[in-house]
Amino acid sequence: MKLLVLVGSTHAGGYNDRLAELAVRELPAEVEVSRFDLSTLPFYDEVADAEGRLGASVDAFRAAVADADAILFTSPAYNGTLSAVAKNAIDVASRPRGNAPIVDKPVLIATAVYTKGADERVIDHARLALTIAGAKPLERAFSVTEHFAAFDESGLADKDRERELQGLVADLLSPATV
Ligand SMILES: Cc1cc2nc3c(=O)[nH]c(=O)nc-3n(C[C@H](O)[C@H](O)[C@H](O)COP(=O)(O)O)c2cc1C
Repeated sequence: MKLLVLVGSTHAGGYNDRLAELAVRELPAEVEVSRFDLSTLPFYDEVADAEGRLGASVDAFRAAVADADAILFTSPAYNGTLSAVAKNAIDVASRPRGNAPIVDKPVLIATAVYTKGADERVIDHARLALTIAGAKPLERAFSVTEHFAAFDESGLADKDRERELQGLVADLLSPATV
C-alpha cells in the first residue's frame, strides 16, 4: 500500500507539515509513505504542458500521484481558502485530460489553521477542486484551529484528536476505501 503525502505549505516544520508527520507516524511498516515537495512544481500552464515544456518535476509528480494508492493532502488557510501551492498541485495532477493521475484517488484532506472557521473553507474548497479534478476525497476530513495552541513537542496536545487523525489515515488506507 502506497500513501503519498502532499503538504500545501512551503514552510518545512510548519503546522501543516507537522500535521502530516503526525498523521503517518503510527502506520504499519507495510505502508510505503512518500512525500512530494510541491514547491518544486511550476505554476500550471496548459500551453506549456501541451508542448511538453513543464519540466521534470511535473513528470515526477504525476508519476508519484499515479503510483499512489491514496493521498494525504494538507493545506494551510491563505486568505480564506487553500494555499496556491496546494491548489496548483491539484491543477497539475488534474491533467492531462483523459489520463489525469488524480482520477479516482482516495484523498484525506487535513488542515491546520489559525482562525476558527477557516478550516471549514479550506476543506470545502479543497474537496470541491479535488472532486472536479476526479479524485475521491473521503467524506470525513480533519482540522485543527488555533494551530499555535494545538501543538506541543509531542504532536497534538489533545491526544484524542491525534488518534482521530491517525484513525482517518487508517480509514483512507482500508481496502473498503482504496
Ligand atoms: C498570505 C497568508 C494568508 C493567510 N490567511 C489566513 C486565513 O485566511 N486564515 C487563517 O486562519 N490563517 C491565515 N494565515 C495564517 C496561516 O494559517 C499561518 O501562516 C500558518 O502557520 C500557515 O501554515 P503552515 O504553518 O503549515 O505554513 C495566512 C497566512 C498567510 C501567509
